[in-house]
This record gives sequence, C-alpha cells and structure tokens, in this order.
Amino acid sequence: MQDDFFKYQAQTTPHPLAMEVSHAKGSYIYDKNGKAYLDFVAGVSACALGHSHPKILNAVKEQLDKYLHVMVYGEYIQKPAIELAKLLAKHLPEPLETTYLVNSGTEAIEGSIKLARRYTGRSEIIAAKNAYHGNTMGSLSLMDFEERKTPFLPLIPDVKHIEFNSESDLQHITEHTAAVILETIQGGAGFIEPRNDYLKKVQDRCNKVGAVFILDEIQPGIGRTGKLFGFEHYNCQPDVVVTGKGLGGGLPIGAFTTSKEMMLTLSDNPKLGHITTFGGNPVIAAAALATLKEITDSNLLEETVKKEQLIRKHLQHKHIKEIRGKGLMLAAILENSEITNEVILRAQDQGLILFWLLFEPKAIRITPPLTISNEEIIKGCKVITSILDSL
Ligand SMILES: Cc1ncc(COP(=O)(O)O)c(C=O)c1O
Repeated sequence: MQDDFFKYQAQTTPHPLAMEVSHAKGSYIYDKNGKAYLDFVAGVSACALGHSHPKILNAVKEQLDKYLHVMVYGEYIQKPAIELAKLLAKHLPEPLETTYLVNSGTEAIEGSIKLARRYTGRSEIIAAKNAYHGNTMGSLSLMDFEERKTPFLPLIPDVKHIEFNSESDLQHITEHTAAVILETIQGGAGFIEPRNDYLKKVQDRCNKVGAVFILDEIQPGIGRTGKLFGFEHYNCQPDVVVTGKGLGGGLPIGAFTTSKEMMLTLSDNPKLGHITTFGGNPVIAAAALATLKEITDSNLLEETVKKEQLIRKHLQHKHIKEIRGKGLMLAAILENSEITNEVILRAQDQGLILFWLLFEPKAIRITPPLTISNEEIIKGCKVITSILDSL
C-alpha cells in the first residue's frame, strides 16, 4: 500500500509519517503488523472519545439503517441535526441558540466571516498574528504568515492582524470592523492562552464599535480544555462560536452558532446566503450528538482537568522547558526543534503517537482522547521522559 499511497494520494508534505493503519480502538491505533500505538494526538484533537467508541458506533449504525443523505442542508426536518443543534444551544449561553452545520472547521470559519459581513454591512476582518483558522481561501486570509499565503494570492481583502494578548492593539478594532476572529487558545502558535481578561476586553471593544466577536473553538471546544467551551475559562462570551474537530467524534463536521437574529441574515435578502449540500448530514450529526451527549452527561470534563494535572506531574524533565495549554490541549516545549523532532519520531518507533504544532517547532502536541486512562497517560509520559533521558 505504501507505494500506492505515495503514487495516487495527494501529499501535504514530502515526509508523511506513513503508518499503515489497520484498526483503532480506545486510546490505541494498530498498524498492519498488529503493532499498537498509544495515541497522544487523537486525530489532532478530533477523536474526543477515542477510537471506535461504542456509543458513537451505535448511533452511526442506527442512523445507517434509517437513511443516509436525503436533501441539501436546511430543507427537510431531520432529527439528528435538530437534536444536535438543540443540545449545543442548551449548553451555550443566551442568545447563542442557532447553529449552522457544515462539513469542516474551515468551512464553519468561512460561514462565520460571511455572517459577520452580512450582519454588519462592513468588510474589515481582524484576526490575530500566528492564528490558524483553516486552509480554504477565506480562512487562509486570516493567517499572517506571508510565506504560506504568498503563493495563493490574492486572498480576500480587508483583513488586518493584531497581536494576541496585546491590549494596545485593540484600538485597531473600529467602526469599520465587521468582525474580530480569534482562537480561544491559539493552537498552531504553541497553545497560547489569553491573559489578563484579554478576551473580555476584545468583547467589550467589539460591543463598543458594533463589531462581531467570533471565537474559534474548533480545537479548544467540546470538552478539550476541561470545560465544554474554552471561553468558559476566560470570563467572556462571543457573538459567534465556531466548533468542529471533536464535535464529530471522529467524523467530519463544522458548526457556527449565534443568535437567531444574526443567523436570519443568511437566509433572507438574499436568501440562500450560505449553502451546503452535506452540512448537517444525518450520519455525521448522529455521531456528533452521541459525542456531545457523552461529554455532557458523564464526568469527562472533571476528569480532563485531573488528567492535565497527571500529565504535568509525569512530564517533568530538564529538557522540557514548559508545558503550555489547558486540560488535554497541552504542548510540551523543548529546548529546540531538533530535540522535538527526535522525540516525536522515536516515540512513534516505541509505540507512542505524538505530533508537531504548525508554527511552534519546539512544541510536542499532547492532545490525547478525553477518555484516555490514567495508566495510559503515565505509560505515554514515561516513553517521552525515557527518550529525553537518552538524548
Ligand atoms: C483552531 C482551528 N481552526 C480551524 C481549523 C480548521 O479545521 P478543519 O481542518 O476541519 O478545516 C483547525 C484545524 O486544525 C483549527 O485547529
């Protein structure tokens, strides 16, 4: 299969990890030789409940027996999508009650940009330096890395960048601004948390000038930080919350949620302001509903906080300079990128899956399934510290 993988499937880098997957269950992925890999990455924060969770599988199977795709998004009344949107609304503060379901995180970001422009009648979008919101043209426009954007220019115009956590930069948010869009915790940048009520200050500034405050919760949302939504840690509330990744429990999804009043602007004058064929797909929505129910009905959120402490306790080493992040969205920062590369590659040989962050080459991503056991955490941490010992 390896030859066919390189020949027929598009590649994103010259050096993919190229592990040949046989199956996955719980916190483990198994390769074609039956070797088990403890998963400290969870599909880059997507497999919130680990692999092959029985409640997700049952929900999907039940829906498979009823029907698959029947109509483009928004026309028919389909129970899984409605129940999912209703459950999201139940756990979000008012007036965040209406959800538009799409197929990926980046598509949800695109939808939220359109929504803000349509609602305010303004065009300027403000994003943060070092942000990552996805890879389609609109989301890419929010990135400030020139070398990554230049080959694809021109992108959408009227995007400006501010420094995350800089209060003085808030003055750039003005009456011309349609939206400020931020990750609640900056992911690709190295799991950078907001400080000193920064997000609340952004919210206040947006309210003052009439801009829409959008929080990208695609990675920190749906329990990963120990609260259902990351912004619950930071004394603030967005006008639009964007989710994805973990919401699907391992299937592709994106969602943006806002007030009924704001969302209505996408369905009227002009109507069909945003369209998707497969958004809200009943099989995906059934998986997401099962995931969200399990996270909100169990003690997983409290457990996530305890598991963070366990990782911090067992990942102490002279080569680890800092552990950033919250809950099970953690990044171990090593001395330099060479050591980081060495640890990630050797860990895979030793049956532990680790991964990089996009823009912080010294970081090791530690985002295991929320369902990982304490024993598995300790086992994985030992692999990391023993590799560091041998360097
Ligand atoms: C914060 C954030 N926003 C948006 C995205 C894009 O989501 P997707 O890859 O599903 O399009 C990601 C994916 O890594 C992300 O971490």
